[in-house]
Order: sequence, then structure tokens, then C-alpha cells
Amino acid sequence: MPVRLLHIIGARPQFIKYYPLQQAIRQVAQDQPIVNKVIHTGQHYDYRMSKIFFDELGILEPDYHLEVGSGSHGCQTALVIQRVEEVLINEKPNVVMVFGDTNSTLGGALAAAKLHIPVAHVEAGLRSFNKRMPEEVNRVLTDHISTYLFCPSETAVANLHREGFSSEDALANEIPNIDHRLVAQVGDVMCDILLSASIDAENKSRILDELKIEPKAYDLLTLHRAENTDDPQRLEEIIAFVNEVTVQTPVIFPMHPRMSKIYAGGHKPFADNVRIIEPLGYFDLLMVLKNASRLLTDSGGMQKEAYWLRVPCITLRDETEWVETVQSGWNILYRDYRNAHHPQEEPQAYGDGHAADKIIHSLLRANSMIEAALVKAE
Ligand code: UD1
Repeated sequence: MPVRLLHIIGARPQFIKYYPLQQAIRQVAQDQPIVNKVIHTGQHYDYRMSKIFFDELGILEPDYHLEVGSGSHGCQTALVIQRVEEVLINEKPNVVMVFGDTNSTLGGALAAAKLHIPVAHVEAGLRSFNKRMPEEVNRVLTDHISTYLFCPSETAVANLHREGFSSEDALANEIPNIDHRLVAQVGDVMCDILLSASIDAENKSRILDELKIEPKAYDLLTLHRAENTDDPQRLEEIIAFVNEVTVQTPVIFPMHPRMSKIYAGGHKPFADNVRIIEPLGYFDLLMVLKNASRLLTDSGGMQKEAYWLRVPCITLRDETEWVETVQSGWNILYRDYRNAHHPQEEPQAYGDGHAADKIIHSLLRANSMIEAALVKAE
């Protein structure tokens, strides 16, 4: 019986997170039957937020485009549930894979769990302990309806233990099911892709020339989180901080559409050294990041990318899920920043670059245990 995997992606970081799984599945599919399907929910739809990543990385065309588009959190999540459910009823996958903490993650996981299809959550166990973030609500709920919880770090596993999940060892020889879950520390799928992609970026990207910037002579800024952009007072505070710490340093700011809309509505302006540009593709972004003298960001993924590339990061939030980046000294929360970074250790958190292989082998093993149990029961 082939394993039938169905992946749900829809927002920019999820295209990057899915890519290593596509590659790992391709590898194992040479020896064993796997049916692999992909749903693009359509949460992100602009070329520069979506298709550019498929084109650059060679991600295969998704099997389904659900075109849920923008909307309030309730509407967007509800549309994902409704449209994913229809696909799941037709496709009947053994496992539904969801990634990270977006509305597409939660909507997809809910649709699957309600049809009693096991959910595998990639990037399970992360917590900011701040329920005002839509991402925190999405990830807590997704974890609690998932059967397979693939964690990027020890901290993530410990967070799940605190919430009553058992450890990987206790379940090693048991079949995961809706009440009996598998928690596994596999590392981070973004680490799988980053090192090779940053070499590709060197060859493919011309962005430093296009922007006429010199390595290590500028800072990079990204800002899009609802908790920052949607509260005018908070946004004003962040803009004042950015203006203050980057004074005289050129800043490159690829602006996310959420921020563009809000900024166009009128705001305390960024200073003249802050250069606003369109969102960048993956290779250009990596090239701009690895050559930046610092990163200022509220993105989760970019805190890790900066850490792996050894670029000091200032996180424009009150807390971070990626606590190891702060403990190592490469990342500092903006309220704690006192004009310099003092990294104490080489980046070594978040796995060995083989997270996707571990995920796929773990799912295949569980599937063969389920098959064996079915044969025994007959
Ligand atoms: C979503 C995720 C966030 C993730 C981010 C990555 C949720 C709750 N949040 O936030 O965790 O870090 O993606 O980018 O799921 N828009 C466009 N074009 C697009 C996509 C969005 O113009 O291609 C506009 C929408 O109209 C909307 C705004 O951007 O006004 C926000 O989009 P949305 O997908 O709801 O959330 P993000 O802020 O991107």
C-alpha cells in the first residue's frame, strides 16, 4: 500500500519549508511507492510572494490551487477549512503535512483532523507564550490536533512535554494514532535548504549590483507581523527604534504587502537612509542577508537564517520562539539592544541539515507499522 502524503502550503515561508520535503520524497520514491500531492491554499498570491519561489527553487506545480486570498483571520481560516476538506474527501491521504503557524496551517490541520486523517506538523512545539499573535494561536491548536509532531529543537520538544505530550522514546515502538502521538526532534527544514541555496544565490543573484550596495556596508530590515504593523503606537515605536539604531547606515527594506498597505495609509516615516524596495525572491533575499552587517526583523524564519549565516540580528519583537539564537548572542530583542552584539558561540542549533529525510523516514516507518498491524488483525 503506497503512503499517500498530502502537503498544505499557502504562505511565503511555507514554499521554502516544503522544498526539502519534495527533495527527500523524490529520493525515497525511487525505491518505494509514495503518492505525493500538494495543495496551495492561495493565502499568498502575488508573484513576488508566491510563484517566484516555485520558479527559483523548481518546486513542482501544486495539484490544487484553492485561491482563498486575503480576508479577516476568521474568513481566511474558514475558507481554507472548507476548500481543503473537499480535496481531502477526494484524495483520501494517509497523512496531511502542515508547516509552521499560518492560517493555512491551522485551517488545513482542522480539515484533516475532523476527517480523522493524521496530521503531521512540521515546526511543532514552538511557543512565544503571547496569545495576541495569530501565529501562537495557530501553532498551539495545530500541535494539539496533530498526530506527528516534528520539532526543530530541544526547546520545542520541552514545550510539548509541558503541555502533556509524551516523549519520542516512549512511543518509539508504538503506532501513532489520534490519541497516541509521535513527538520527534528532527531539526529545522529551513536549515536543510539554506546552505546549498546560499551558494546558489552567489551564482544566480545580481541584487547587490542592482541595488548598488557593498557587502557589510548596510543593514537589512523586514517588518510584517500583525502584532507590529496593526497597532499604530507599536509601529511608531518600531519605526523610531529603526531610525535611531541605523542612523547614517543605509538600510534595505523589502516591504511586505501588509506593511505597504499600512504605510501607504500615512505614518511616522522611516528616515531617508531606509530604502524601501519590493519583496525579494529567495536567492536575492539570501544574498542581501548574507552580505548585510546586521538584520533587523520580526520574521521567524529570518532570525534563523541570519544565525546560520552569522549575521547579527535585532528582533523587533518582545519575545522570540527561537530562543537559542538569543542565548548564543547572535540575536538580541530590540528592547535589550545596547549598540553591539557579542556572539559567544558558533551557530549549532536546529539540526544537521537532514530534517526532511528524518521526517519522511519517520512517516514511512509509522506507515509500515500500521500496515503490519492491519495484516495481523485480518
Ligand atoms: C502570513 C502569516 C505569518 C507569516 C507571513 C509570511 C498568518 C496569520 N500569518 O502573514 O505568520 O509570517 O504570512 O509572509 O497566517 N497580501 C498581498 N499579496 C499577497 C499576500 C498578502 O497583497 O500575495 C496582503 C493581503 O491582502 C493582506 C496582507 O498582505 O492585506 C496580509 O496577508 P496575510 O496572508 O493575511 O498575512 P501575512 O501578513 O502575510
